[in-house]
Amino acid sequence: MKENYNDYRRTSDMPNFEMFKKQDTLKIKRIWAMPNKWTFQIKPIKEIVDRYVGDGNGWIDPFAGMNSPAEFTNDLNPKAKAKYHMKAIDFIKQMNGQVFKGVLFDPPYSGRQIKECYTDLHIDVQRDDTNSFFYYSVKREIAPKIVDGGYAICCGWNSGGFGGKLGFRLVEVLIVPHGSAHNDTIITIERKMNQSLLLAVNNKEDWLHPTDKSVGIRPTIL
Ligand SMILES: C[S@@+](CC[C@H](N)C(=O)[O-])C[C@H]1O[C@@H](n2cnc3c(N)ncnc32)[C@H](O)[C@@H]1O
Repeated sequence: MKENYNDYRRTSDMPNFEMFKKQDTLKIKRIWAMPNKWTFQIKPIKEIVDRYVGDGNGWIDPFAGMNSPAEFTNDLNPKAKAKYHMKAIDFIKQMNGQVFKGVLFDPPYSGRQIKECYTDLHIDVQRDDTNSFFYYSVKREIAPKIVDGGYAICCGWNSGGFGGKLGFRLVEVLIVPHGSAHNDTIITIERKMNQSLLLAVNNKEDWLHPTDKSVGIRPTIL
């Protein structure tokens, strides 16, 4: 067995793939709200973020914008309310040896939005800045730095999240339609799995509900 979920080329190559596929406890909600470029000011999104993130202690947010509750914040824009101002990928890489309870992942939602951000900041746009590699490369760097049992909260126009290949399992989805021709904002909540968590899922133990359990470290060996 490989050491990291990351080391498997496909999710289907992983041991326990059958357990990953099982999705008998996924919660999905759909709540209308006005759009806002600062995602965490949208009421139902703020509520779900607050519910999981709490005081933000031990959380990381590489695209923090103006409203991040996370302890470790970064945003490329120097005017954003963040401790660091660099490209998300460089920010994560410099966090060497640190682990986090969870990650807030709320980047620009399309290649066009990324291009607009970079152009406003007079930064050259490279080809890999505006395709799916932009998102995956940051997720791949963060995933090993999240504790087992920790969370990834992603916002965007799809429900892909971090995914099974990076060791995460979907537990809750919030769909926020904004009316008219606006795209919905989709929030995914995923949990980092290890062997014992996977077994707990298989045995139908109540491991899922975040509000009544601390996010702390789970045993890695049963
Ligand atoms: C959707 S907004 C985040 C909003 C934030 N969650 C809030 O509610 O205030 C995306 C943010 O990513 C930043 N950004 C864009 N490209 C980036 C990059 N490569 N690295 C870090 N931040 C970036 C933008 O400046 C913008 O503030």
